Amino acid sequence: MKLLTNAEQIITCNTNGKNFKQGSEQSQLEVLTSHSIIVEDDLIKDIIPNHSINNTSKFEVFDIKNKIVLPGLVECHTHTAFAGSRADEFKMKLDGIHYEEIAERGGGILKTVNAVRQTSLTELVELIKPRIDEFISQGITTLEIKSGYGLDFENEIKLLHAIKILNEIYPIDIVPTFLGAHTYPKEFKENHDAFIDLLNEKMIPHIAKNNLAEFCDAFCETTAFSADEIDRIFTAASSYGFKIKLHTEQFNNIGGLDVALKHNAISVDHLEVLKESDISKLSNTDVVCVLLPGVSFFLNYQFAPARKLIDSGAIVALSTDFNPGSSHILNLHLIMQLAAIEMKMKVEEIINAVTINAAKSLLRNEAVGSIEIGKKADFSVFDTKEYSDIIYSVGRNLNCMTIKNGEVIYKKN
Ligand code: NIG
Ligand code: FE
Repeated sequence: MKLLTNAEQIITCNTNGKNFKQGSEQSQLEVLTSHSIIVEDDLIKDIIPNHSINNTSKFEVFDIKNKIVLPGLVECHTHTAFAGSRADEFKMKLDGIHYEEIAERGGGILKTVNAVRQTSLTELVELIKPRIDEFISQGITTLEIKSGYGLDFENEIKLLHAIKILNEIYPIDIVPTFLGAHTYPKEFKENHDAFIDLLNEKMIPHIAKNNLAEFCDAFCETTAFSADEIDRIFTAASSYGFKIKLHTEQFNNIGGLDVALKHNAISVDHLEVLKESDISKLSNTDVVCVLLPGVSFFLNYQFAPARKLIDSGAIVALSTDFNPGSSHILNLHLIMQLAAIEMKMKVEEIINAVTINAAKSLLRNEAVGSIEIGKKADFSVFDTKEYSDIIYSVGRNLNCMTIKNGEVIYKKN
């Protein structure tokens, strides 16, 4: 057995069995002092006051004096599986050319699709490894990764295989999402129906049969898929047992939110341009709003209405949306800091957003996302005595130790 002891604070994110935080609950954060965590195998066995420990001889002791411990962070929306670079487009954006205009000119997602198609499975795995190492060094123990840059049978499956291989190599949990409906590949630019048939009749059945993804995601946008097209894709995906997520209300309101709700989406992601009148559709529901302030920062446009969502009773999670085009930001801590400064989220709300609520958006909230007896022994240990420092230290990563399933998988020198 292991004993994590002497922490200045244990931020439990405890929900007393509810396993998510909604509305005003999101600003409540349980902080224990003078307590220790007992770990047996890969689980949290107990959380006890320090004074009740009389004999440490039966434990492997981790003394985390002058540090704080949080649940292992959950990074719930990433496009980490990509090849190539879009630095040239970043420069165009700095010159004032809009992200959607670049996509319309055949750049954007399709540029990355070209790069992925020219990269072998083995090369892809090697490209992605250092990115996962970087997430782990930030305290992340659960990581979602989407496909979406292959956009044909062979290359979407290649991306999902790469994700599967990485999940086997790494000790963290990697949650695979199929994003075949990311945009129309050039071969199907003039024949949308045929691409949807390919998704629904070939890719989705194959991915289900081979267990290559848990979620089916899509992009509802004027440059990508219409609400009716998404409806057809989600109908097929649901019939094969996929859980649903949707990129929606990122630049335009074209019916994505309604179609996601119709298909019982687990999460709706982006929401930068969510209409005021649509906020109530997300109040007091089970749907997680995954907000991605890195996109607004990177593309320099409006942020999602986090405050209004929380104040109206929604469930909010945060993520990097790490990708080569709209958020080349591999840093969940910077996202947390942006959420405070730009979206006026409270520090406590932000911590719940990257732990228990992010876990809910991946349907992992009964196993991870909070420090509670019986949950996985996943922790991130921060080199500070007070949790607000994580947000206050803008641009820095204060995580100094990552523990997954009771094992130390990262330790800062
Ligand atoms: O979440 N919105 C669509 N997909 C990504 C961007 C992908 C890209 O530009 O490569 C996003 O922003
Ligand atoms: Fe995304």
